[in-house]
Amino acid sequence: MTIYIKKPQINMKIKEIYNLAINKGIDADFRGREAVEKFLKRKREKYEQLPGKEKEEFDLESLENPYLDSRILNISQDKEIKRILVGVDVEPAEVLLAKEIGNIDLVISHHPLGKALAHLYEVMAMQCDILNQYGVPINVAEGLMKERISEVARGVNRINHQRTVDAAKILGFNLMCLHTVCDNLAARFLKDKIDKENNLIIIEDLINLLKEIEEYKTAAKLRAGPNIFVGNKENRCGKISLTEITGGTEGSPKIYEKMAIAGIGTIVGMHMEEEHKKEAEAANINVVIAGHMSSDSLGVNLFLDEL
Ligand SMILES: [Fe+2]
Repeated sequence: MTIYIKKPQINMKIKEIYNLAINKGIDADFRGREAVEKFLKRKREKYEQLPGKEKEEFDLESLENPYLDSRILNISQDKEIKRILVGVDVEPAEVLLAKEIGNIDLVISHHPLGKALAHLYEVMAMQCDILNQYGVPINVAEGLMKERISEVARGVNRINHQRTVDAAKILGFNLMCLHTVCDNLAARFLKDKIDKENNLIIIEDLINLLKEIEEYKTAAKLRAGPNIFVGNKENRCGKISLTEITGGTEGSPKIYEKMAIAGIGTIVGMHMEEEHKKEAEAANINVVIAGHMSSDSLGVNLFLDEL
């Protein structure tokens, strides 16, 4: 858990902060604004054709917000926001922490909570477009992701998602979570940095480049810095992909073979499960894990800079 307290200079309403976040998330989105707008337009067209009863149950926010894992979860007092408590993970304990610190107008969690967590799987489809940009045929990406998306949807189903939201309601705290919007900012930042550097020959060069970034430099001191999960520091990077920084959570483990065929040599990711690691290894793809808390902190800090 990482906490940042923003100094009182913001003076924005909750909805304005949320709108800024969604907008910045779209600006940084690898698919580009036009593609995101087309995606929302298709959603609206489908919504308009729904029969009455289904229209009533429809999540209207999904017509404006392409990242349903980033939402306003509770407004207890719609006031000018001056002090925010921000955490990568917010649970009832952190809401109590906000109470203890005092004068906190808004709590922001990076990881999704409430219905944003229940909708985590919905952002995963964007991974198909990103994989496609890196050369994986769209039909292959969609075929493999479909299975994985339904697995994630079932996985989050059992969680008590409302717990922290209810704690915020009881204690009277405004609460918001910003997941994919911040991950998009981190992904864009890393992509721009890596693309600009034309001297990344071996994995060691890539690790050194990551360690120039403040969040990774700090994490390295805490033994949570960039790590090689597959490959070694002398391996050539080949084509470096940033397919695993944003898009909800880990994709399909079957994708690595297809990525290798598409010409990808190295993946930079936030975290990786054993099954995925084994498949990447079998496909001879190098994996550099930049670090979970550090990468999440990078995205959150980029958003706090915008604030
Ligand atoms: Fe995360």
